[in-house]
Amino acid sequence: MCGIAGYLGPRNAVETVFEQLKLLEYRGYDSAGIAFLQDGDIRILKRAGKLTELGKAVAEEMPEARLAIAHSRWATHGGPTDENAHPHYDQFQQVAIIHNGIIENYLELKERLAAEGHSFRSETDTEGAAHVIGREYEEGVPLEEAVRRAAGKLRGAYAFVVISKREPDKIVATRNASPLIVGLGEGEQFLASDIPALLPFTRRVVVVKEGEVAVLRREGVSLLDSAGKPAPIEPMEVQWDVAAAERGGYEHFMIKEIHEQPDVIRQCLLGRIDEAGRIRFENIFSDYVWTEIDRINIVACGTAYHAGLMGKHLFERLLRLPTDVFHSSEFRYGDPVLSEKSLAIFISQSGETADSLAALKLCQQRRIRTLGIVNVVGSSIARECDRTILTQAGPEISVASTKAYTAQVVVLSLLAFYLAQVREAPGVRVPEGVDELKRLSDMARAALALEEQVEPLSEKVAASPLVFFIGRAADAHVALEGALKLKEVAYIPTQESPAGEMKHGPLALVESGVVAIVGATDSKVRDKTVSNMMEIKARGGTLIALTTEDDETTCQVADHVLRLPKSRFDFFSALLSVIPMQLLAYHVARRRGCEIDQPRNLAKSVTVE
Ligand code: F6R
Repeated sequence: MCGIAGYLGPRNAVETVFEQLKLLEYRGYDSAGIAFLQDGDIRILKRAGKLTELGKAVAEEMPEARLAIAHSRWATHGGPTDENAHPHYDQFQQVAIIHNGIIENYLELKERLAAEGHSFRSETDTEGAAHVIGREYEEGVPLEEAVRRAAGKLRGAYAFVVISKREPDKIVATRNASPLIVGLGEGEQFLASDIPALLPFTRRVVVVKEGEVAVLRREGVSLLDSAGKPAPIEPMEVQWDVAAAERGGYEHFMIKEIHEQPDVIRQCLLGRIDEAGRIRFENIFSDYVWTEIDRINIVACGTAYHAGLMGKHLFERLLRLPTDVFHSSEFRYGDPVLSEKSLAIFISQSGETADSLAALKLCQQRRIRTLGIVNVVGSSIARECDRTILTQAGPEISVASTKAYTAQVVVLSLLAFYLAQVREAPGVRVPEGVDELKRLSDMARAALALEEQVEPLSEKVAASPLVFFIGRAADAHVALEGALKLKEVAYIPTQESPAGEMKHGPLALVESGVVAIVGATDSKVRDKTVSNMMEIKARGGTLIALTTEDDETTCQVADHVLRLPKSRFDFFSALLSVIPMQLLAYHVARRRGCEIDQPRNLAKSVTVE
């Protein structure tokens, strides 16, 4: 969630890192700062609040520098104040650091240093780390060695970047769990916590591995392993184009990303269905392993967890393969029962979610096979899992996840049909499934065309004190995601539950003026859903139904009907219903004047537990 930027080279370094911070704004932050070298000293400018505040300080001073590091902070240890903002100096102002993540043993470290006479200006864990590095540096070792030694004394998940006035020609960085990427240039080098902050400058990147120390000099970059020995540099070329990381004419990233979904679905299938209509994945487990797996545990957070529920639906219904879905934060501390032949699937857009990473480490310790379904190439989860399937959705900038969800469910669907293919699952119509997946992009386009009908409905929803989201079977899972979207971007309280659960409690909340969004795409359970709709209508609720184009029943009860393309697999029609729900959340948020791409209190990449 915090952002890291760094630059050294012939450009104005302060302006360059400021530009990089702007590209990281989507990660969410509440203060920001820059450190740069000027006249043999390290100078720091930092401000609580949005980047405009820091921008004012930069504009007042107009500093010129050839080396700078910058940070946008999302407060964890200590409130969002000027003092707590990064960068931080060490005791003697020899070095300055910026840091993402959390240092768990910072109190212990600070106490020890305080006993030696160190004084601290902030409440942060980061300043403790700065002092530890500064202390190592006093020994007269090069900065990279001081950083490497200090890293050995720090516990937690972190990435930090350090500059020193004694060695004004280098930036040193290291990481453990939090991401760090070096951007390679000609006679200039860049550093960032996330690829979008590098794209306008370079496409050649090096992902710093856990425990490695990166040393950036104008003329080149070197890496040291955790023992201080040179490590190989493996540059890779980022394929995302710059426009893909920009709004592309839309008012917000969220609506741009909602509209990208037909393309995302196509991209997601790219190279995964051969000419004979068979599904194939590169670098995945052998057929033997797939046949042996006796249970699937899906582990994820938030939207990715909701995608996981859709996966469970498919694995169980199509393959009769027992599947559990866990919130990552619960999985880790829940002492889960994991069978030897089970597979743990980690779903994550960012690939950096701390809770999911921690759960992944637990599976690794227990020697359980792991598979990542991840969007960000080179991210921690993508690298740490035994095998990874990339969702290929392109960068998702809006904090509220939309296209990543669809891509995750499409990958899970591909995987389910792939497993049916490998395991020769009886009764599963794989070619039909493949055909439906191929049609899905066009069907998503048709779902997007509902925007004209959704926008006017947003007025009613915006006025509702509480909005219900209900459905049965896959519709019940999509209801959870629809509710999450409305909560997070429009700040409207929601009550989401399987339709059949309403009368067991939530029905008490129904009164005149409330709106219920009802997923009724599954023809097999529609009659039951219609009965639940009547229970709400009888108590004064307004019903907005999401159903398929052939449905003649729901419209007899619903106040408004949004019709989706009918798929031969009800599951896909349910998946498509997430699109009008996303559109609804967006238009309600817009009507209410909410900060859509960066909802309050939320961050894109949740790298703290
Ligand atoms: C909701 C949202 C979050 C994320 C969750 C997991 O719109 O974006 O609920 O889905 O924080 O993040 P990833 O997928 O990056 O692991």
